[in-house]
Amino acid sequence: MSRPDPVWVDEAVRVIDADANRSADTHLHVFPLPPEWGIDLYLKDESVHPTGSLKHRLARSLLLYGLVNGDIGEETVLVEASSGSTAVSEAYFARMLGLDFVTVVPRSTSKEKIELIEFYGGRCHYVDRPPEIYAEAERLAAECGGHYLDQFTYAERATDWRGNNNIAESIFAQMRQERHPVPTWVVVGAGTGGTSATLGRYVRYRRHATRIAVVDPENSSFYHAWRTGAMDYCTGMPSRIEGIGRPRVEPSFVPGVIDEVLPVPDAGSFAAIRLLRERTGHWAGGSTGTNLYGAFQLIARMLADGRTGSVVTLVCDGGERYANTYYDDGWIVEQGLDLAPHRERLESFLATGRW
Ligand SMILES: Cc1ncc(COP(=O)(O)O)c(C=O)c1O
Repeated sequence: MSRPDPVWVDEAVRVIDADANRSADTHLHVFPLPPEWGIDLYLKDESVHPTGSLKHRLARSLLLYGLVNGDIGEETVLVEASSGSTAVSEAYFARMLGLDFVTVVPRSTSKEKIELIEFYGGRCHYVDRPPEIYAEAERLAAECGGHYLDQFTYAERATDWRGNNNIAESIFAQMRQERHPVPTWVVVGAGTGGTSATLGRYVRYRRHATRIAVVDPENSSFYHAWRTGAMDYCTGMPSRIEGIGRPRVEPSFVPGVIDEVLPVPDAGSFAAIRLLRERTGHWAGGSTGTNLYGAFQLIARMLADGRTGSVVTLVCDGGERYANTYYDDGWIVEQGLDLAPHRERLESFLATGRW
């Protein structure tokens, strides 16, 4: 690729910054818990970003990272390996810069996700087996002289963990006037691992006592790898929860900044998002249920230890994307899942504080 025109790069950075300047920060909502517990639970609502998920932040960072590294110019075709939220957000920014965007996706990707990527002008390139997405994206970028944005490798590097309104700085700023302004726990899932890496680095950099917990769905490699240190561990199986859980340990997963990894059953995640909707009206995606299930467990532990404080977790994307799956009873039965015992457990926790 010839060296990008600096005037074009300068304008591209201005356009992306202007988009950020036009966007308001995402809300921090309260999840209602019995006040006598002395523990407050907050939901950072990332579904209100212009492209509907926490990946709006990552896509912006990856585009800026490619621009300032001299990897993206006015003719560059942008390539990614993602069937989810990241590709939707990257397509949005690519269109803003007038660049072509291609994402490599498994043929099993939901129609809703493909339509969303194409809505923002992106193109999907299909592979039969999910593990092939990485090599195919690399090959495609090399073939067309494009730039492979590679979220799984660069998420932890492209995101500014010191501040710059990253998700951590935003959470702590919005907690400042709460009765427990420094959370005891922040609970998130991991796909690339970028979000947990940013949070873990930020709390250490700002010397907060906050601990970071990662929730991990079925078939994912992160829990075993974090517990045993075997970073080459691979399940070879896809996660049912879009956006989180990976068959292999991704390069942006930084175990050293994570204080705990909690395995969460998929039926528990789905029961939790349905409960969330009934109790708060928030219609969220599956990974938000995984977050909530983990947050409840940690709150029960704090109660058992006689501790007060606050816990923060994320609403990562909107539920409308999953109307035909996680919110469809027929789909749940097809998956061989029974949500009732998990629903019972969540309700009993909210009534008693015991898990
Ligand atoms: C929809 C969705 N995508 C992705 C992620 C994971 O983020 P990351 O890739 O930063 O680990 C999450 C995490 O909770 C998520 O819910």
